[in-house]
Amino acid sequence: MLSSQEILRKYLDFFGKHGHKEIPNVSVVPQEDSTLLFVNSGMFPLVPYLMGQPHPLGKRLMNVQRSIRFQDMDEVGKDIRHTTAFHMIGNWSLGDYFKKEQLNWIYEFFVEVLGLDINRLYATVFKGEGNIPRDEESIEILTKIFEKYGIKARLNERIFEFGKESNWWQRGDAVGELGGPDSEVFYWLLDRPPKPNESPETAEDYFLEIGNSVFMQYIKTETGWKELPQKNVDFGGGLERIAMIVQGKSDIFLTDMFEPLIQAISELTNKPYEEYKKEFRIIADHMRASVIIGMDGVIPSNKEQGYVLRRLLRRMFRFAHKLGAESDIVIKLVKPTVDMLDWLYPWWHEKERELTRIFDEEEKRFTRTLKRVLPKVEKIIDKIKTTQLNTEEIAKYAFDLYQSEGYPPEMFYEELEHYEIEIEKETFENAYQKLYTQHQEISRKGATKKFKGGLAEHTETTIRYHTATHLLHAALYTLIDPNIYQKGSNITNERLRFDFPLNRDLTEEEIKKLEDWVNERINEGLPVNYVIMDKEEAKKIAKYIPGEEYPEKVKVYYIGNDLKSAISREFCGGPHVKNTKEIPPIEIYRQENLGGGVRRLYARFKTS
Ligand code: ALA
Repeated sequence: MLSSQEILRKYLDFFGKHGHKEIPNVSVVPQEDSTLLFVNSGMFPLVPYLMGQPHPLGKRLMNVQRSIRFQDMDEVGKDIRHTTAFHMIGNWSLGDYFKKEQLNWIYEFFVEVLGLDINRLYATVFKGEGNIPRDEESIEILTKIFEKYGIKARLNERIFEFGKESNWWQRGDAVGELGGPDSEVFYWLLDRPPKPNESPETAEDYFLEIGNSVFMQYIKTETGWKELPQKNVDFGGGLERIAMIVQGKSDIFLTDMFEPLIQAISELTNKPYEEYKKEFRIIADHMRASVIIGMDGVIPSNKEQGYVLRRLLRRMFRFAHKLGAESDIVIKLVKPTVDMLDWLYPWWHEKERELTRIFDEEEKRFTRTLKRVLPKVEKIIDKIKTTQLNTEEIAKYAFDLYQSEGYPPEMFYEELEHYEIEIEKETFENAYQKLYTQHQEISRKGATKKFKGGLAEHTETTIRYHTATHLLHAALYTLIDPNIYQKGSNITNERLRFDFPLNRDLTEEEIKKLEDWVNERINEGLPVNYVIMDKEEAKKIAKYIPGEEYPEKVKVYYIGNDLKSAISREFCGGPHVKNTKEIPPIEIYRQENLGGGVRRLYARFKTS
């Protein structure tokens, strides 16, 4: 049986033979200022080279890259394949070879080097959408590849075609991101062949995606996707998934990329994996992801990457407690994780002690909170089960618990799920958020209790920054150029950041004017409200982000006495302050030129 290390070796040998040079893998924390919190694919550091800058190692590159997709957190545990951290094997052509070589090589690698059964391999291609045409070329190439192995590849039977939703890849959604149509390789997991109505879209559980060749030849501009000067290939495949197939496992957590950790969890909890798959998977995945993130220097905290790490760790602790392990989780699980992956990260050993100490501290702190909180949660759950409470009433309990104990509402929600109390997540979040905002009102009116925000996104400060962002945006299109719109925005507890199109730097005088305008609006004490409208109607009167997809009904936040006279109207989910008076005066302290006609401003509250 090939180990993951051997699979990787074979991959690098194979693409090495075809002229690829290995590039180092990078930290999962983006080194440059990025709109994304984590590196989510191997191509992450290659953007400048995909755009045409020469790479010192040439035009053919390859590597393995640790990647984080924490947005999948809720999926983990439910199936055999979802994880928040994974390893992507990748190869790239920087304006060198294109579809024919890539597709031929990747099937040759899967079938001839790894020995996968060609009968179980299925392909997808881009069927055309918007101004990007159908990928006829790939269909032709793939048909020939299957033919070579004795398979007549019929369209939508062996080679499926889908639209952008499935067969288009881009790293993120900001202007300047690269993207293109792609062709995925799927492995069919069942022993019987797929039925006519089963496709990678309709039978996700049985079609496992093991590779994706992106034909990266477009760049996102303000007006849509434009051709890049060079045609690139960006291939990525999940090493863990490939290992699952090659190692003949029924589940990614039984491969050598997880199994030692599953063993360790079994020893820690004295329970078998087979009976507690969901909990084991969550613990194993979150532990492994936490180690990867922590080893790259992130420390649990209440913002950005640190908050994701804290979420992963706490969720893991909670699930370990459920299986009866209430202490020493970190002590017992970090080491097997480090040992399991030291073939890839020998340097982890040096940091193991320090990381264990940091995680252990987090465990102890969280365990103390849980000891106090859980009996209360259980009482609430009992009440919910015996009386008919609506979502608002349940959210009130969650809010009180957050208030008194700092217990995060998202964890409360998970307890509900655990006890099979089904309420809609969004309704719950909105109800919670409403209470949170109301409470801030009350505290400002002189209540003695001081509110301490603990949530990453919605602290009192970030909510204020959020409304301040709308004001700054309004100042820009009111004073500088009516065509200015939001291209990007990012808020922390310390500052706001706003990106917008403008082909020149702002003068000092203009910056001063913008500040003054915003601070005057703050002083005026304008109310902030929203209405819910049909999208098309809303587009006529409010600012939105071009290119962004919105639902049929949208929330429009406006600042002013009524919608008509408002000085700002924007598509936005909120939350916001109730009145601009709640915002401290701001100062703009930095301006940057992001290139491509995009400017960035940083502003913070004056501390005086
Ligand atoms: N970057 C491509 C992906 O993540 C290969 O699927």
